[in-house]
Amino acid sequence: MKFSLNMNHVYALIALGIAVCTTDAAKADEAHAVKLYNTYCVQCHGVNRDGNGINSANMAVKPRDHTDTKAMGDTPDETLFKAIKGGGLAVSKSVLMPKWEGVLNDDEIKELVAYLRVVSKTTAK
Ligand code: HEC
Repeated sequence: MKFSLNMNHVYALIALGIAVCTTDAAKADEAHAVKLYNTYCVQCHGVNRDGNGINSANMAVKPRDHTDTKAMGDTPDETLFKAIKGGGLAVSKSVLMPKWEGVLNDDEIKELVAYLRVVSKTTAK
């Protein structure tokens, strides 16, 4: 059997390489987002990401259930980003959702938005 590599094989290998690297980068971002969420968000939004964090029992406005596919699916990425960066007030919601500007940078907030898409089983919009 003769083994030969034509340009189509080369292109396919390059494409595969890019796909593998992109997936690795996405996985690393997601792992980082999980850490951020478990540090900064979990006390309100809960270990199950369903809005039932330890603080939520005494809160006048319940934290968003991030597993709610319908509600999260209706919310654009831009709104999620704004809400995390500027807090509830930035999107005309409760001040009980703190702003994270100054704690998290824009890249970290984008990682969190992408992670919320995974948690809520919704796609970016
Ligand atoms: C002190 C409690 C608290 C913490 C900590 C907190 N949140 Fe919230 N969050 C809330 C509350 C309360 C709401 C609901 C606001 C409303 O519906 O008026 C909310 C809503 C949201 C929303 C929905 C915004 C929208 O427009 O629907 C997102 C997204 C969100 N939080 C993300 C996060 C992320 C990410 C973190 C961690 C970096 C975080 N929250 C930390 C209390 C909190």
